[in-house]
Amino acid sequence: MPMNVVVMGAQWGDEGKGKIVDYLANEAQIIVRFAGGANAGHTIVIGQEQYALHLIPSGILYPDKMVILGAGMVIDPVALFSELKMLRDRGIDTTGRVFISDRAHLVLPRYIQIDKDRDLARKKPIGTTGRGIGITYSMKSDRDGIRIADLEWKEKMEELEPADRNFLAPYVEQLKGMSIDLSAYMVHHKNAQILFEGAQGALLDLDLGTYPYVSSGMSSAAGAAIGGCIGPRRLDKVLGVFKAYSTRVGNGPFPSEFDPDSEDELCRFVRETGREYGVTTGRPRRCGYLDLVALRYACLTNSIDSLVMTHLDVYDTLDEIKACIAYRIDDRMDENFPASVEALNKAVPVLRSFTGWKKSLANALTYDEFPTSAMEYIEFIERFCETPIDIVSVGYDRKETIIRKSPWAK
Ligand code: IMP
Ligand code: MG
Repeated sequence: MPMNVVVMGAQWGDEGKGKIVDYLANEAQIIVRFAGGANAGHTIVIGQEQYALHLIPSGILYPDKMVILGAGMVIDPVALFSELKMLRDRGIDTTGRVFISDRAHLVLPRYIQIDKDRDLARKKPIGTTGRGIGITYSMKSDRDGIRIADLEWKEKMEELEPADRNFLAPYVEQLKGMSIDLSAYMVHHKNAQILFEGAQGALLDLDLGTYPYVSSGMSSAAGAAIGGCIGPRRLDKVLGVFKAYSTRVGNGPFPSEFDPDSEDELCRFVRETGREYGVTTGRPRRCGYLDLVALRYACLTNSIDSLVMTHLDVYDTLDEIKACIAYRIDDRMDENFPASVEALNKAVPVLRSFTGWKKSLANALTYDEFPTSAMEYIEFIERFCETPIDIVSVGYDRKETIIRKSPWAK
């Protein structure tokens, strides 16, 4: 039976979804990106080649896959066409394989400026990527947005401000050519195997994340149903991708962040070894211990059936590894993830220690070849989150991926 599988971030984004989607796309016919915009940055490494994608689903690197920019996305035409050009310049044929849901919204240049100005004017800036994302989603919820479908609507186009209309003019025909009715497409392809690719992560989701320090789209599993125009009961499985440690870009609470006074060396080590710099903005990412309180919350609020652990190799040389298993907030211990930013800011991580494996994981071909202490770390996480870890990634390449259970099996 063909399956519909969701791949989403289970932390604050940058978990390595791009690599995992690319890996799984091999067995899918269609890849639908369901949320976000050019704020995302997905890195894929194939042999000597490295690709950074922002809008186009990672499946584009396979010659025969259809890729769709879903209804939950916000599309900046400049970013889209420059990404398509980059792919074509590198020999990837994109003709006839990239489609956009006619319900997706368009990002206009003036939204980008407002996004930057507004964040700078905030007493406590969010640290947005400055790509106009939040403004486009707020225009959408204000019901003043422009969708791909609206490009066909003469009256609506005539009502646009001249600057907006002039900006869109050179893109209109090409965008129309890529536009599809995604719900009809999904009905037509009901026997296809489909991968739903998320952006950002559970803790950056507008509703479930650390509001207001979140992005404005739906990075949760529920977003796959809406952004994929398919309905929640047609999603067969949800995979949550997480790193062996945590990172966050931009501002906002991060309870397990490494302490700059006492853990600066560890922080630098993780950042350099894990190449923790933003793909979209180049900003150094904030780093910290794996936060199991937050990860379990992500599993519960997204029906994550199975976890994918990435970047485990970053810990290869450490003597000791720690993970956060509870928060101490004031004088209380809490194992639940609170909504309150104040509580999260006060939270002191309760850390559990694990023995390091001191061995390169890159050469392991199967899980059985992992050192016992690496297995202990993995299996503790599975018990804590009550969710199996079915895939472990130990390097950037497609080959450096250990499958314990096929993601395409229920
Ligand atoms: P925006 O999405 O540009 O509005 O940014 C809102 C917040 O989400 C900021 O803290 C960004 O750093 C963060 N963010 C947005 N997209 C990503 C991503 O793809 N990875 C990591 N953080 C992101
Ligand atoms: Mg990223």
